[in-house]
Amino acid sequence: MMEMGVPDYGGGPVGRAPHRTLDALQAPDRAPDALFTLTAAMGYQVVGGLRQQVMTFNGSTPGPTLRATQGDLVEVRLTNQDVTRGVTIHWHGVDLVGSQDGVAGVTQNAVLPGEEFVYRFVVPDAGTYWYHAHQDSVREVRMGLIGALVIQPSPSDAFVESAPTSDLLALVHTYGTVTTLNGAAGSTYVPVVAGTTRVRFVNSNNGPALVSATQPFIVAAIDGFDIPGGTMLSNSYVDVPAGGRIDLLVTVSSQNTRVGLLSGPSLVIGPDGSGAAPELSSSARFDALTYGTPGGSAQALSALGPPQRNFTYRIGSRSGFLNGRAGTWFTINGKIIPKVPIFMVRDGDVVRFTIVNRTPFLVHPMHLHGHHALVVSRNGQPATGAPWWVDSLEVLPGETYEIVLKADNPGAWMFHCHNLPHARAGLVTHMMYEGIHSRYLIGRVTNRLTNQPE
Ligand code: C2O
Ligand code: CU
Repeated sequence: MMEMGVPDYGGGPVGRAPHRTLDALQAPDRAPDALFTLTAAMGYQVVGGLRQQVMTFNGSTPGPTLRATQGDLVEVRLTNQDVTRGVTIHWHGVDLVGSQDGVAGVTQNAVLPGEEFVYRFVVPDAGTYWYHAHQDSVREVRMGLIGALVIQPSPSDAFVESAPTSDLLALVHTYGTVTTLNGAAGSTYVPVVAGTTRVRFVNSNNGPALVSATQPFIVAAIDGFDIPGGTMLSNSYVDVPAGGRIDLLVTVSSQNTRVGLLSGPSLVIGPDGSGAAPELSSSARFDALTYGTPGGSAQALSALGPPQRNFTYRIGSRSGFLNGRAGTWFTINGKIIPKVPIFMVRDGDVVRFTIVNRTPFLVHPMHLHGHHALVVSRNGQPATGAPWWVDSLEVLPGETYEIVLKADNPGAWMFHCHNLPHARAGLVTHMMYEGIHSRYLIGRVTNRLTNQPE
């Protein structure tokens, strides 16, 4: 791992922690509450009328929606039938135990054809998450090794009283040139009763998904975490970053409501049984920086306390050599892999990152594994609404974000752009807990096995 970068201690103490292996960080040894089997395989699927070569979980893409309850111990048996370069599963947005993160060459070896791997982890938070291959992910995610993971609040949670009448998934994925919701192009009719419908958008693409509804809606959650006190929005659209999730609460009347991507696929939801609904058209871009209970964000920040480490994650690009190949590569704080900073933290630290996008035309949906971070400011403007917790934060050209998190989940955690071709072009590093060592390697391991997370 260390040959992946240069330790950056962010102004905090330099670690002298005893060595621990990542493999030692395991879920509790008890019987699972939720048990799943996922088999990865090559296949064909008709998407938008076109027969395409895809990669499937349990015979379809997207794979099955996995459902569990907050606090459950989830066990997933992954089998690779015939995906030649191997497969792993990363549980995107789940703040899970360090050894189960599913990154080839960091937390495990890729699972080759005929092999299997069992994931065991507790799901600490309710909300909308997803899973995807993190071996050769540029190709395997694009070809369909994806699925949704929905964690219901535990029944003892007092807040379930506000549960909506209907709960739908809207997983965005583009197969070839066909953009789909839950694998379907165009409009899909979904019967729901009048009332409030929760629509869980998951963006598995490399670029932003702009979503909206023809009825007023509330933004109820971002990246799995609830946004309390959100006001009703009309004529608005929400930008779901690549890798991100947004839950909308849509008010469905006796007429049909369309909810989906602006000029893209949509769900027509309503009680009347016909497919007709108005087209989506929205003008105002939703801004989470000022949305929800006023002052909530400042409160969450003071609850975290002052940071012990301050890091800069400045994204640029320049030409040079990466793994001996000449090209234009992304830089982090001016450096190309393997000279990029590795952000070193200690269990219990409060950590601040200043993320700066210095690439003129490129959007970077920045994803940190294993943690949620609180958005503190954008371009110096403080967050004033409800706490905005993210694992996937879209940083537009020229923007600067400040985020703060509690480092309370030991491991070796990727922090990369979720426009996966950008990650492959060098926009990837790690947040590393001092003393933690991985025994896996990125690159060629044996004649059969090459770990290549992107
Ligand atoms: Cu959704 Cu490192 O990935
Ligand atoms: Cu990027």
